[in-house]
Amino acid sequence: MSAATPGTTTAALATSVTWHAVCRVSDLAVERGAAALLDGVQVALFRLTDDRVLAVQQRDPYSGANVISRGIVGTRGGVPTVAGPMYKQVFDLATGRCLDTVGRDPLPGEAADLVTYPTEVTDGVVHVGQPG
Ligand code: FES
Repeated sequence: MSAATPGTTTAALATSVTWHAVCRVSDLAVERGAAALLDGVQVALFRLTDDRVLAVQQRDPYSGANVISRGIVGTRGGVPTVAGPMYKQVFDLATGRCLDTVGRDPLPGEAADLVTYPTEVTDGVVHVGQPG
């Protein structure tokens, strides 16, 4: 006998997210970025000193190059940041927000802020969620 009653639906997620098991957290150097490819989309991963892992888009909206994982990790007012390696814009790693544009505009059609991806570390494995 089935536990589910016909006609009832399981709770659907508001947005569908595909989770990818990307690597072990121990594969990532602390405060160094790493790039991952999720179904053809480049993502930049950053392991923080507290072993949290944050993920943002790898594409730099100011240069168009896939280089954010090579940026310098730091903090601003207690929030973890990455500075873009091309023109040194500073981004909040948790929200993707551009905190310092260094007086430049992003490329036409690009948002100033980075897209962030949800992350989860389970049994030492880093999972990154891809919406859509
Ligand atoms: S798990 Fe392979 S691309 Fe997502």
